[in-house]
Amino acid sequence: MLQSKGYLPYAAPLIGEEELLEVIDTLNTGWLSRGPKCALFEERFASFVGSKYAVAVNSCTAAMFLALKAMDIGPGDEVLTSPLTFAATANVIVHTGALPVFADISPKTLNIDPDEIAQKISPRTKVILPVHYAGRACDMDRILELAAAHGLKVLEDAAHAVYTRYKGRMVGSIGDATAFSFYVTKNLSTGEGGMLTTDDVELAHKVRLLSLHGMDTDAWKRYTAKGSWYYRVLLPGYKCNMTDLQASLGLRQLERLAEMQRIREAYARAYNEGLKGLEGIVLPHADEEGRHAWHLYVVQIDEKQAGLSRQSFIEELKRRGIGTSVHFIPVHLHPYYATAYGYKEGDFPAAESAYRKLVSLPLYPKMTEDDVEKVIGAVRGIMCKRY
Ligand SMILES: Cc1ncc(COP(=O)(O)O)c(C=O)c1O
Repeated sequence: MLQSKGYLPYAAPLIGEEELLEVIDTLNTGWLSRGPKCALFEERFASFVGSKYAVAVNSCTAAMFLALKAMDIGPGDEVLTSPLTFAATANVIVHTGALPVFADISPKTLNIDPDEIAQKISPRTKVILPVHYAGRACDMDRILELAAAHGLKVLEDAAHAVYTRYKGRMVGSIGDATAFSFYVTKNLSTGEGGMLTTDDVELAHKVRLLSLHGMDTDAWKRYTAKGSWYYRVLLPGYKCNMTDLQASLGLRQLERLAEMQRIREAYARAYNEGLKGLEGIVLPHADEEGRHAWHLYVVQIDEKQAGLSRQSFIEELKRRGIGTSVHFIPVHLHPYYATAYGYKEGDFPAAESAYRKLVSLPLYPKMTEDDVEKVIGAVRGIMCKRY
């Protein structure tokens, strides 16, 4: 992610003076682990998404895992998710002992297709785990309908969806629980970090317990003048809490999120305008009914129409100093999933066909308008060269 001169990485965080000062303030207070700033960040994040509770943890992976554990998911259960996601979404299901079951995506939105979910629901299914791919909301009405009809929980993977809105509701306030990522490339970054939001008081309480050894009081409460040394372990928990150093970044990033989002939207519009009409490149669909967080700007290179392969496109951009990425290798194609569960090529044709074409172009508020123009010029140059 380090920016070398003249090279535009596909993602980079925007850290300003405010973040630096907040981190220094935390260093001066001495609360380097979980403390009052985590509590404040949780409060502000919950109010931002419109959920009753938020629990700050050290990653989205931890948020999803702890939520599944708190929902009592384990061996014999099935959890339904998208194959077009980062492996963490499926890995956490495996870690609970449950079976990861994939439902193919809609080629238009690249999100899990509710019709496919309907076909995959079995008596063992307990949770639907939709992924808001690139920051575009899944079809939550249909997903919630299916969940209600079959008595399932909905845990959303909102790693890409800080600021995503679905039909007037913020992602984070829709399903039973939602997991966010604050990893370095994400729309709001704490370096590493995550948040679980929910309206369910018991779920929030259990995730909080599980995130810190199962202890019934936080260290920072015990170590204050009013605190007591006494604590009890109510569950065999894990160590997944956020720290106040991370929360310092989070608090200041949250304050500048609206501005960062405005820039993402402006750059996405510039790409839509600048790249339209090029043969062989399919541009991402905006969300007509909600708000796309534009975490990623994902184009699809149709090798036949474009006259060049996806890999050549990536290499040509790299030659011009532009970084890209591919989101994602479908999870079922990874060796572990193929070997452990017998998944194979052809199982999820829509995800596989999309995967062969996907390229994520740089899109983040730290980029300048000139950077955006540089990418547009480079893509146009590459795509038009074959004429
Ligand atoms: C869709 C998706 N889910 C989950 C994660 C995991 O997030 P984290 O690194 O915060 O655990 C990522 C990370 O990139 C992701 O892209």
